[in-house]
Amino acid sequence: MAARKRALATTDATKLEPTTNAQEQTDPTTDPPIAPPKSGLILKLCLFFSLPYFYLIFYRYKIESELKRPILINAGLSLAGFFLTQKIIPVASRYVLRRNLFGFDINKKGTPQGTVKVPESLGIVVGIVFLVLAILFQYFNFTADSIWLVEYNAALSSICFMILLGFVDDVLDVPWRVKLLLPSIAALPLLMAYAGHTTIIIPKPLIPYVGLKVWDLGWMYKLYMGLLAVFCTNSINIHAGLNGLEVGQTVVIAFAILIHNLMQIGASADPEYKQAHAFSIYLVQPLLATSLALFSYNWYPSSVFVGDTYTYFAGMTMAVVGILGHFSETLLIFFAPQVLNFLLSVPQLFGFVKCPRHRLPRFDPQTGLLTGTNDGTLVNFFLRLFGKMSEKSLCAKLLIFQAIGCCLCFLLRYFLTGWYK
Ligand code: UD1
Ligand code: MG
Repeated sequence: MAARKRALATTDATKLEPTTNAQEQTDPTTDPPIAPPKSGLILKLCLFFSLPYFYLIFYRYKIESELKRPILINAGLSLAGFFLTQKIIPVASRYVLRRNLFGFDINKKGTPQGTVKVPESLGIVVGIVFLVLAILFQYFNFTADSIWLVEYNAALSSICFMILLGFVDDVLDVPWRVKLLLPSIAALPLLMAYAGHTTIIIPKPLIPYVGLKVWDLGWMYKLYMGLLAVFCTNSINIHAGLNGLEVGQTVVIAFAILIHNLMQIGASADPEYKQAHAFSIYLVQPLLATSLALFSYNWYPSSVFVGDTYTYFAGMTMAVVGILGHFSETLLIFFAPQVLNFLLSVPQLFGFVKCPRHRLPRFDPQTGLLTGTNDGTLVNFFLRLFGKMSEKSLCAKLLIFQAIGCCLCFLLRYFLTGWYK
């Protein structure tokens, strides 16, 4: 991003190039196309994801048709969103490059790939397609009541506001401390419209100490919602900098959220509880589908970068589904690697230790391997723990770690059910 901003400030490439053909200067369709999507990888991922999804929805649980129907309609819309996003990204890439919105691949510095201008902020395509799907979906959710619609639209306003502020950050490169606050502004529509309960259920082992079974937090609940939004957005954004990591972690967490929601719907008899989890599914399915489309271009070697537009959008969407689905504790366990990365980052984030603009590993162009630096990130921690490795295998290891964390969360829930809450 720093490279991109400097490029913007010092040169206007389109003005410096000799004008040979006026049409060429204004028509981005004449620019060379980006590399094609990695469709094989996405196909394998989709097959892998489909198995537990279809097993749970059609075989394991008897989900009533009034709930199953909107979920499947939403899945169909999401699938359409996947293809739409995949189609639009190459076109949008040419347009963003024309406006000098690009970044250099820092982990390839010193090689020819490191000199390529990679289109930046393609998260904007995902964000827009997601919003279109989510807005259209309201038409098909016949069972929705008016409170549901108010909260759903407030959630969409917050997500939309976050996309806007993320894009502003990508274009203006706002200072780090301001960045941190943007999600709290974006969360306002949701916090203001939220009319649901503000109570938390005290875990059974703590009831004797607290003296309550249910605790009404009142306005503090809204504060908690705001803080969760700030955490989810920023924690995705700072666990980044490797090809595929930003989108990859979102895909893993979103899939875990989807499975968690299906399991909760299947296992519960309470209609209100089921609605809350269905609410989550309606937002998480389009997030997963559009993110997979972006992943097909962002996986190693990235032909596009996602920008803060995407990291903020993905973080906010997951925070919103966790809040309105009432499973923020589970969400935080799904975010375990991000929590770990945040804890490792605290000394640099709060200014106790110097924080450079990019806290990325050191790349050796001779061997093509990354070495961990002293910057406090999970990426560097993994490199120090497992030794030098390529960017691709480091990212794969981090995503597997994310998936293991999610699996452990399911196990933990399984063993603690009944004892904990
Ligand atoms: C956050 C991190 C920063 C990290 C950056 C990488 C903190 C406080 N900030 O900053 O340490 O370096 O994310 O995204 O932890 N890039 C790559 N390869 C990739 C993805 C990104 O080289 O796979 C580079 C590109 O030059 C791209 C830039 O990172 O243009 C994007 O950085 P940006 O998202 O603006 O950084 P921040 O979110 O501010
Ligand atoms: Mg970023």
